[in-house]
Amino acid sequence: MIKVLITGATGLVGKEIVKQCFEQKYSVHYLTTSKAKIVSKKNYQGFYWNPSKNEIDISCLEGVTTIIHLAGASIAQRWTDKNKINILKSRVESASILFNLLKNQSHQVEQFISASAIGIYPHSLINFYSENTKEKSTSFLGQVVSEWEKSANQFTKLDIKVSKVRVGLVLDVEEGALPKIVNPIKFGLGSAFGSGKQWQSWIHKTDVAGIFMYILNNRLKGVFNAVAPNPITNKELTKQLAKLLKRSLFLPNIPKFVMKLILGEMHILLFESQRVNSKKIEDLGYQFKYYCIKPALENLLK
Ligand SMILES: NC(=O)c1ccc[n+]([C@@H]2O[C@H](COP(=O)([O-])OP(=O)(O)OC[C@H]3O[C@@H](n4cnc5c(N)ncnc54)[C@H](OP(=O)(O)O)[C@@H]3O)[C@@H](O)[C@H]2O)c1
Repeated sequence: MIKVLITGATGLVGKEIVKQCFEQKYSVHYLTTSKAKIVSKKNYQGFYWNPSKNEIDISCLEGVTTIIHLAGASIAQRWTDKNKINILKSRVESASILFNLLKNQSHQVEQFISASAIGIYPHSLINFYSENTKEKSTSFLGQVVSEWEKSANQFTKLDIKVSKVRVGLVLDVEEGALPKIVNPIKFGLGSAFGSGKQWQSWIHKTDVAGIFMYILNNRLKGVFNAVAPNPITNKELTKQLAKLLKRSLFLPNIPKFVMKLILGEMHILLFESQRVNSKKIEDLGYQFKYYCIKPALENLLK
């Protein structure tokens, strides 16, 4: 039986990957920073780690052939200096702990699949980014993602296949960005941000997990964008949601300075624009369940 070790398995993307692992009859080991989240079941076994203290339960590796690394402190928190350090360290140090463990232990790991993010691409209203894009964003997030990908690359030194999955805006009804966008619209307070022309390269949670599973099952290595084939603008997303929720949008767009006052530096998450292309994974045979925003939102908000 295939056994996968997942970090960040308890988060939005992780839970969906765990679900798809079970559907495919894979066994899951996972590392968690929270002892309260440790579960011991036949095919689902939790192990404690604390990357900031270099602590890890080494038995997490037993029988594991693939590691999926999703762990990282949320970027949706105020970007204070302390939080910024934690956002970076929680991704890079955790990868390094795994690297050192594999370097010093005998193991069967053949593949390391790391989450990454489309925040690596520079802000642009015009560009359509593929994995071949050489330019990298110099923003805080861009720098975090570059370091995160570098920390994944080190596993090649151990002859392990490395894949980096540049995740877009994951849509889920309970967690992530969608509930935060939906709630003001429900209360009649929804409106687009800024010009509303910024691109949102969204992906349904089923497809983001589906892409991780596809990479695992086909032993793919390299960089892959995990976004749906049809990105939309912020204005279009807001309009589609209002239509589906049967609400009208009567307020003017929310200006950037207002969101900066409310959210601080993190406000750029709402105004950054990355139009990202999913062609590479499609050409390799991945079939999306949700190509367009309308059925994706209908499925999530039903
Ligand atoms: N959701 C999106 O739209 C999106 C977009 C682009 C990229 N991504 C990236 O994809 C990955 C998975 O996303 P997600 O939405 O599933 O994230 P999430 O829901 O925030 O879950 C991340 C998990 O990481 C672990 N974690 C949190 N702080 C940590 C720390 N300081 N050190 C080590 N582990 C820590 C937590 O697991 P435990 O409590 O069990 O330790 C948590 O469940 C993240 O790295 C995220 O940045 C997500």
